[in-house]
Amino acid sequence: MVKISPSILSADFSRLCDEIRRCEKGGADIIHLDIMDGHFVPNITFGPVVVKSIRKCTKLPFEAHLMIERPDKYAKNFVEAGSDIILVHREIKIAIEDVLRKVRNYGVDVGIVINPETPLEKVIGYLDKVEYLLIMSVHPGFAGQSFIESTLEKIRKAREYIDREGLNVKIEVDGGVKHHNAKKIIEAGADILVAASAVFRGNVEDNIRKFKSL
Ligand code: DX5
Ligand code: ZN
Repeated sequence: MVKISPSILSADFSRLCDEIRRCEKGGADIIHLDIMDGHFVPNITFGPVVVKSIRKCTKLPFEAHLMIERPDKYAKNFVEAGSDIILVHREIKIAIEDVLRKVRNYGVDVGIVINPETPLEKVIGYLDKVEYLLIMSVHPGFAGQSFIESTLEKIRKAREYIDREGLNVKIEVDGGVKHHNAKKIIEAGADILVAASAVFRGNVEDNIRKFKSL
């Protein structure tokens, strides 16, 4: 069954705990935390202080999607705040291999993320060093954008490669995932769907159940 990782970016931040508990009730598998620094992407969200405070709300694993220029500097803070999975962008300007190694040493699971314009070839060489490959299906920075259709081909290629090589890497898809397109994303090979607006607009529990029934 496909796993669902609601991104709290579209939650009501004045009652985050409530929103997260609702996700848990609806059957969410992971909680997705979109961390933005205003440099790597043109938006700023929240930091480790918030992550630490919402850690008390649920036992679900937290994945920190680091859309920041220096994950090497700050990943540790997100681990100490209670993140179980750290997702690092391939597009950062510092040596990705060193960052992946550093993060792994903090004792968490690691993922590599690629933007829509980054070809799959750019991460192939790192897939034996990560537990997750997160394929962005919108340009990172904001919730509520439309799914970029060409992502489907990238998901298919990633699925094929991972299966052929027998790698233990889960494929996550993030951006513009909605009930109406989830089926084709799953069929293309996604293991985990990240969704913000499609979860938090309307009834959270129902929205998650609807995804899980696909
Ligand atoms: C975008 C974030 C996504 C975003 C998804 O930069 O990485 O996780 O919150 O939002 P929706 O599901 O609304 O496209
Ligand atoms: Zn994200």
